[in-house]
Amino acid sequence: MSGKAVFASSCSGCHTLTGHDTEARGGDLAIAKLSAADIESFVRVMPVHLRPAQEAAVAAYVHEEALRR
Ligand code: HEC
Repeated sequence: MSGKAVFASSCSGCHTLTGHDTEARGGDLAIAKLSAADIESFVRVMPVHLRPAQEAAVAAYVHEEALRR
């Protein structure tokens, strides 16, 4: 599964990725420009269960999108 698909299915219920403040309960993930490694650490404590490859893919996706916003 691509990082984009993992975000859509496992993160978008609580997070947005716009670069602006939103009403999302977990906040917008493109405001803080976190490293992919830091994002991956947060993913492990989120209430979602992903395989390691999916954690890495979604962390890379969120990191890349954040840099573009
Ligand atoms: C059930 C809701 C929920 C889901 C699902 C969820 N999160 Fe979160 N997430 C939160 C909450 C709540 C916080 C804490 C926000 C705060 O207090 O700043 C958080 C914090 C974070 C942070 C730290 C943000 C920061 O700026 O400090 C990251 C990164 C993150 N989540 C990534 C993810 C990713 C990636 C996914 C999908 C794999 C995900 N989360 C799924 C609710 C969720």
